[in-house]
Amino acid sequence: MTNIQLPAVSVTMVLVANLQASLPDFGRIVSQFGHPAPALRKLGLVHWENGRFDTAARTFEAALSLMPRDPDIWRDLASVYSGSNRDEQALTAIRTSLQINPHNSQSWQTLASVADRLDDSETAEDAYRRTVALNPDAAAAHLGLGLLLFRKKHYQEALAAVRASVALDPVNGLAHYALGHLCFIASDFAGCAEAFGEAARLTLPLDPAALQKRARAMTFQTMIDGRVQEALRDYNEIAGEDREDLDIIARDAFSVLSASGHLEAAAEIGRMRLAEKPDDPVRRYLLDAVLGRSMTAAPAEYIETYFDQFAPQFDSKLLATLQYDGPRQMTKLLAGHRTGFKHMLDLGCGTGLAAGELAQFGPMLTGVDISSGMLAEAAKRDGYTELVKAEAVAYLEANSNRFDLIFAADSLIYFGDLGPLLRAAAGAMVQGGLFALSIEVAAGDGYTLQPSGRFAHSLEYLKAKAGDFTILEATTSKIRLEAGRPVEGLYVIMERR
Ligand SMILES: C[S@@+](CC[C@H](N)C(=O)[O-])C[C@H]1O[C@@H](n2cnc3c(N)ncnc32)[C@H](O)[C@@H]1O
Repeated sequence: MTNIQLPAVSVTMVLVANLQASLPDFGRIVSQFGHPAPALRKLGLVHWENGRFDTAARTFEAALSLMPRDPDIWRDLASVYSGSNRDEQALTAIRTSLQINPHNSQSWQTLASVADRLDDSETAEDAYRRTVALNPDAAAAHLGLGLLLFRKKHYQEALAAVRASVALDPVNGLAHYALGHLCFIASDFAGCAEAFGEAARLTLPLDPAALQKRARAMTFQTMIDGRVQEALRDYNEIAGEDREDLDIIARDAFSVLSASGHLEAAAEIGRMRLAEKPDDPVRRYLLDAVLGRSMTAAPAEYIETYFDQFAPQFDSKLLATLQYDGPRQMTKLLAGHRTGFKHMLDLGCGTGLAAGELAQFGPMLTGVDISSGMLAEAAKRDGYTELVKAEAVAYLEANSNRFDLIFAADSLIYFGDLGPLLRAAAGAMVQGGLFALSIEVAAGDGYTLQPSGRFAHSLEYLKAKAGDFTILEATTSKIRLEAGRPVEGLYVIMERR
């Protein structure tokens, strides 16, 4: 208790005597309890309720000097400290309360709030969980936990916690507001529109970002209900002053609805968008993917156009929004097998997210990508010995016996049939070289083109096609988020035979 100084008992007794002399009610409460500490606590509560935080804290401290094992007074003291921004002292006080009585849900809730304010999310999460375990009806703790998980981007769990809070306390506008955002991420568009509506009814008018999301949610739901044309026609009226460009709404509706499995609606939007621009390779390929057409690889024209357009936003979208961490995860895995390479190839290097990670393994790193937009971003990182614009298989075929590491993070997902690429990779590597790659996981024993336009492969399929390699390790992982849900993937380390 280094940061809390309780007064000496003799000092408190002088205070008690003065209070008894000046406040007859105080004297009565002391006689009623037979002890001055509960009377001091009551007085502290009155100071607290009237916003006199410092006086309340001194009064609780005085009570604790007489009753240092009272967990409730420690909790009151913690709350009052917290209310006056004395968070470190609040933490000490609430931890003392919980050491004395670890079974009080209110005390865990207080610890959670204090830790949350101090940005100690680990302590806060644990304390929120203990609060709801002891008291499943603690609406504020469910909400606190939900908001914390929301910040951690654990969207599904956050949604469940916020839903529980709304069910217990349906008049909390903030809970509805959080529910609106979470429902949108989970592609529950009807739920989103309803929650934002409740939030607006219960509290202040919605901010522009929430209004835009609500308009999108209403539009997307109408599309899911089979009325795509009507949804687009009514969008401007629904969104009012906060409306976005209709072309962006249609583009995003297509990707959101295909990612969330509403393929009929997505296909209708896709057809409409392709009719507007019949030569657009991105629109054509993504419509094919949504329609489930079979293909052995994504067309080079699509990859180039798509990634050229996407390049400037790639890092922020992948890292922050989609929680993509492939290069770092794969490098960690790789380090368990070997840490030094003579010449490394980052195949489908994109914006160069792997360059910083691979620097520890050697000085020679070649980056290859088909998109010049992505290569321009990678060049800014200054982590490559050379950057080459080329199609992956063609490049590998033209460079035999060159590399002792091929690193392909999130790039094999643009190939269905992995045969040609794996054969070419084997030819481009020296014997004993390592190939680190990631794939999205498909059920069954083959590969499949997903509505996202990315391919997924089974491990069995990879094994069957990787005859020139020995698989050293295959680790399942969540590669990124899609429609708020983690995408299952595999990080694989193979050795060239
Ligand atoms: C999702 S990004 C991943 C980028 C990077 N490896 C990373 O982990 O951040 C996929 C990259 O692979 C490239 N790519 C896809 N197919 C390719 C191909 N056939 N030849 C060359 N590059 C390709 C794309 O242009 C894009 O930059």
